[in-house]
Formats: sequence, C-alpha cells, structure tokens
Amino acid sequence: MRIGVLTGGGDCPGLNAVIRAVVRKGVKEYGHEFVGFRDGWRGTLEGLTMPLDIAATRGILPRGGTILGSSRTNPFKIENGVERIKENLATSGIDALIAIGGEDTLGVATKLDGLGVKVIGVPKTIDNDLNNTDYTFGFDTAVNIAVEAIDRLHTTAESHHRALIVEVMGRHAGWIALHSGLAGGAACILIPEQKFSVAKVCEWVESRFKTNYAPIIVVAEGAIPQDGDMVVKDETKDAFGHVKLSGIGEWLAQEIEIRTGKEARTTVLGHVQRGGSPTAFDRVLATRFGLHAITAAHEGDWGKMVALHGTDIVRVPLISATEKLKTVDLARYQEAEIFFG
Ligand code: F6P
Repeated sequence: MRIGVLTGGGDCPGLNAVIRAVVRKGVKEYGHEFVGFRDGWRGTLEGLTMPLDIAATRGILPRGGTILGSSRTNPFKIENGVERIKENLATSGIDALIAIGGEDTLGVATKLDGLGVKVIGVPKTIDNDLNNTDYTFGFDTAVNIAVEAIDRLHTTAESHHRALIVEVMGRHAGWIALHSGLAGGAACILIPEQKFSVAKVCEWVESRFKTNYAPIIVVAEGAIPQDGDMVVKDETKDAFGHVKLSGIGEWLAQEIEIRTGKEARTTVLGHVQRGGSPTAFDRVLATRFGLHAITAAHEGDWGKMVALHGTDIVRVPLISATEKLKTVDLARYQEAEIFFG
C-alpha cells in the first residue's frame, strides 16, 4: 500500500515519534510505502508532499514539532475541499491516510471516513481532552514544563512575598492546570470546567501568606470567573471557529492586588508548553500509537483511532474521539481542593 501521513492542528511533542514508528514498522514489517503531506489538511488540498522513508525519519525521535509541518486548515470550509483531497490522493497514488491530530484534525478525518476516504487516526494534543483515550501524547511533556516553571516561581514568589499566577493552556479542559498544579503544590487551581469565585481565590491567597509561603495560582487560559466571561485575547476565529485565549492570569493578578493589597505577577507559559523535546513517557506513548496505527492500516481496519486504555493500546471508532470533549469532572477537581489555601 501507499500511505499518506499528516499532522494537523497545534503541534505537540511526540509527533515525530509517531511518524518514525509508522514508517519504520510499515516499511520493515509490511513493505508499505509512505508519502508525507505537508501542513496538515492543507497538504492534501494543495498536493504538497514530501518523501517519507526510513532515512527521512532517522534521528527525529527526540525532536519536538513535526517534520511534516502543521496547520489549522479545514477542508470543509474550502470550496470543493473534499473533491480536491480525493483528486490529490488519486494523483499521488495514495491508498489510505494516517491522520495525527486533535479534535479538529480527527473531526475532519471522521467526516472523510464517512465519505469513503480510508483513514486511521492517532490522537495528539497537549490538552489531553480527546475522548475515548486515557491520555494523548504531548500532555505529559506540557505538564512537566509547567511544573518546572511552578517550582521556579515558588522561590521568587517567596523572596518577594508576592502572589504568582501561572497561566497554562487549556481552552475547555483543565487537565494541564490540574496536573501541574497538583504536582507543583499550587495554592489553588482554576479550570474551565468549574467557574471560580475571585473572593475565594483571595481567601486562599491570604491564608497561604499567613503560613509564610507565597501563593502560586495555576489558571487554565479558559477558566471563567463566576461573575464574568472567558477572557479572550483576539475575537478573530480560525477555520474551526476558535478565538485566541489568554489574559485571565493578568486579570486575576489585578483583582488580587486590589482586593488583598498584596503584590501579584503573572507568567503566561503559552507555546513554551508545546515546544521542545518530548518526555520519555510521551516518546513511548507516541511510538506505541504509531506502531498500532500502521498495523490497523495494514489490516484495513479503517475509520479507527488508536487509543490508550489503561496500559493497552486499543482501536476505537474514530468518531468516538470527537463526539464529546474529555473534560475534568468535579470529583477529580475536588481531590485537589484539600491543598487549596
Ligand atoms: O493545541 C491546543 C492548544 O494548545 C490550546 O490549548 C490553545 O488554546 C491553542 O492550542 C493555541 O494554539 P495556537 O496559538 O497555535 O492557535
């Protein structure tokens, strides 16, 4: 078979590990050929390809980003998008696709599967919010980057008797905030799933100061105050209808200064969370996803996504990945609350 591989949406550490595993096993064990589509769905729309063989994928296991490039192109928002993809696949002699992506990329893959394109999905996102997989690769790396930042911020916060707010990614799901806040000993964790009271946050800040520690507040970019709205940086929507978030950390710092009289500062981790080398956990998870994805393709089990259930890699219907978002439930959040304040 001749198989096209693409990576779409926000990049994330571990993408190259998937590509390497797909190609290595696909060539060595099954004798398949591969073509890389550049920049996600844009590559399939515009016929932008690159050679993808064992030589092209050597040495990429520890490299962040994606050798294929990525974009947030949505073929369903482009005139004749699906026809153009089908034509380009036929022109390049492609029998099937392996699409590595998050909710948007896999949402497109699901629709294309329904329209007769042979596709296997691989779940990626630092946000860990894809349904029907326990974890996505990239998440562990993002959490570790955030924890390192929190550890560093503790010492400067204490020297200056300041409250420090760390804003992490997470539009609708607070997994990065929850895990990094727990691992980093935060004075409180604010996630999109639970609206927060600014008065309560200020109580926790003051109680942390009383114990001679300086409070670190971890806030997800999509967290919403009880009496307010999501803070948006830019209302312009991308092809999948997302606005640009960020700003809640700065807003909260001002509120804390006004209400408690203590100095507060904000660190926005932003794209640092998505960059650089994947952790060992993410390299292993991404590699296993790649190995199982190529086997699913070899067996012609189209319309499936590889997923982590417990410690096993399984195949689930592609549609189940995106039919709802995997968010943090109340019980998981409440586990962390004992450490607040
Ligand atoms: O990949 C998902 C994500 O990390 C979100 O948490 C975040 O809002 C978004 O990417 C930002 O990505 P970009 O700036 O690339 O659009």
